[in-house]
Amino acid sequence: MSQGQDELNTEDLLHGSAQVLHHFMSSLKSQALRCACGLAIPAALHRLGGAATAAALLDETGLHPSRLPYLRRLMRALAVSGIFVAVSGATAGNDDAGSAETVYSLTPASRLLVGDRPSSAMSAMLNPRPEAGFAMFFKLEEWFRDKSGAGGTLFKMAHGVTSPWELAREDGAYNTVLNKASAADTTLVMDVALRGRGGDVFRGLTSLVDVGGGYGTAAVAIARAFPHVKCTVMDLQQVISEAPDDGSVQFVAGDAFESVPPAQAALLKNVLDCWSDEDCVKMLRQCKKAIATRDAGGKVVIINVVVGQGANDVAIRETQVLYDMYVMSVDGIERDEHEWRKIFLEAGFSDYRIMPILGYQSIIEVFP
Ligand SMILES: C[S@@+](CC[C@H](N)C(=O)[O-])C[C@H]1O[C@@H](n2cnc3c(N)ncnc32)[C@H](O)[C@@H]1O
Repeated sequence: MSQGQDELNTEDLLHGSAQVLHHFMSSLKSQALRCACGLAIPAALHRLGGAATAAALLDETGLHPSRLPYLRRLMRALAVSGIFVAVSGATAGNDDAGSAETVYSLTPASRLLVGDRPSSAMSAMLNPRPEAGFAMFFKLEEWFRDKSGAGGTLFKMAHGVTSPWELAREDGAYNTVLNKASAADTTLVMDVALRGRGGDVFRGLTSLVDVGGGYGTAAVAIARAFPHVKCTVMDLQQVISEAPDDGSVQFVAGDAFESVPPAQAALLKNVLDCWSDEDCVKMLRQCKKAIATRDAGGKVVIINVVVGQGANDVAIRETQVLYDMYVMSVDGIERDEHEWRKIFLEAGFSDYRIMPILGYQSIIEVFP
């Protein structure tokens, strides 16, 4: 036994080993969730009135009866991690404890996975190219140790191209999954962002350009909420060419590092965290050129994580820093306030205001 272990009492040792194992086994949480989404269990639960036994779920999802004991264990694991609620049959009012079947129901988390409410997590988990998602993190240690390619990202090591957008240019199915995942997440986030204080950010604007705006989901939501705001969506050609166009916003294909279409204000939702500080400063400078002066109501609205902001809740804090690990793969960064301020000032902006009103994300208004 090493000296370090000598100093630990039995309780510390047991707790420490459970913590290490818990961490190690945690990747099974996402696999269990991925499997449940693939089997469409949340949707099945919803169809069954929001609560059902594993046997009813087995029937509803059309699985072979031999899988019932395994389905029970999958449901138990997901209930312990808060994705479903499990109420044992005996507690649920069934006196015959021997035949009591646990009843599972939806939580606010699994409600988002039903399918009538969009979730980027679900779309991303059902990605037809899982190797372009979490699987590349199996190579993280190799990437850290690599002494040859100082400039290469983990994404590049795994796929041979620098970013998901380069891969998306070559692979149409992957392009569609990326765009749909962003659109799904955006529907939900904008629903919240446009209420109350969040809505005030867009109220009174005359025009807005959504830079890296994907399928235009945010711009369409803003145009619906504030019909006097003329909205333009700019994104890469491969995105704009397949964006559904209902005529409520204008679509422009382009590269935001080269130029941004003019508007009173610019929106950058889930864009800057995909880029290094240097690239963010370049993109923000293009936005600054495109928007009105401060006196004329010019501003950049950013929707992204501000690490350390939002409720002091383990799920929120962990999501912020794990997202940071995720975007590390493309040389992106989830920034704290200090890191955001640094790039705003470097890009020539004078002031900013953070509103931590979107769960693990915030709205930031940046003024010229
Ligand atoms: C994470 S997605 C966010 C999409 C959208 N803003 C949303 O929140 O739903 C990042 C977007 O940036 C776009 N993008 C990447 N590089 C870009 C560039 N150089 N110019 C404009 N858009 C770019 C991508 O195509 C993608 O749609």
